[in-house]
Amino acid sequence: MAKMIVAGNWKMNASKEAVTALLSELKQGAVSVTNAQLVVFPPFPYLAQAQAELSGTSIAIGVQNICAASKGAYTGEVSLAMAKEFGVSYVLVGHSERRALYAEDDAQVAAKFIATQAMQLTPILCVGETLKQREQGLTISVVTGQIQAVIDAAGANSFDNAVVAYEPVWAIGTGLTASPAQAQEVHQAIRAHVADVAPEHAVGLKILYGGSVTATSAEELFTQADIDGGLVGGASLQADSFLAIGQAAK
Ligand code: 13P
Repeated sequence: MAKMIVAGNWKMNASKEAVTALLSELKQGAVSVTNAQLVVFPPFPYLAQAQAELSGTSIAIGVQNICAASKGAYTGEVSLAMAKEFGVSYVLVGHSERRALYAEDDAQVAAKFIATQAMQLTPILCVGETLKQREQGLTISVVTGQIQAVIDAAGANSFDNAVVAYEPVWAIGTGLTASPAQAQEVHQAIRAHVADVAPEHAVGLKILYGGSVTATSAEELFTQADIDGGLVGGASLQADSFLAIGQAAK
C-alpha cells in the first residue's frame, strides 16, 4: 500500500529556537515512522532554516499559503518560485482559516491550486463544512462543491498530482474530532465525487483528515478505508505527538 501522508501545519507558531529544537527532534525520530511521508509547514521566515535542517532527511517541506501570481506588485505576498527555492514540495490551498479570515473564495483557491501544479509542486486542497452546515445536513454538498469548484477551473485531470485534506471547521483547534465513521463518510464521498469525473485518479488520491488529530484519535482514523493520513495543527508543534501520529500510519 502507498505511504500515508502526515503533515504538520504549524500555522503562525514558531521562533528560530523552537524550529531548531523541533526539527532536530523530528530528524532523530523520523526513522520510527515507516508508513508515512512526514511534511512540515513552517511560516515563511523559517523556510531557509527548515531547508538547511532537513536536507538529506526524508521529511518534506510545505508552505501554508501562496500567491497565485508569479511576480510583481503584490505587496506582502510570496510566489511559488520563491518557495521552490527553499525546497518546498507541498502547498496548502484553501485552508479554512484562509477562507474565513482572509475571505479566500473558491476562485482564488482554484487559481492557487492551478499555479501550484504549474510549478510541479503538489497542492493540498483543504475542504470542510462549518458546524452550522453540518447541522443543516449540508456536509457532503459543501465539501463536494469545494472540490467541484477546483475541477471546474483546473479540469478533471487535475487530481492526478494533488492531495485533499478534509478538515471540518468545527473540529479545528477545538478538541472535537470527527468520529472515524463521520470522517470516513465524507472521505468516501470525496473519492466518489472525483471518481465521477476522473476514475483513473480517484483510487490513488490521498485524502487526509484534519481537525484536532492526536496520536490517540489517529490510531482509529487511520484504519478507515478512505483516510490516507492526517493534516495536524496543534499536535504537530511537539515532536513526540507529531511522531506518534506518524507511527499510527500502518
Ligand atoms: P488542529 O489539529 O490544531 O485542530 O488544526 C487542524 C488544522 O487546521 C490543520 O491544518
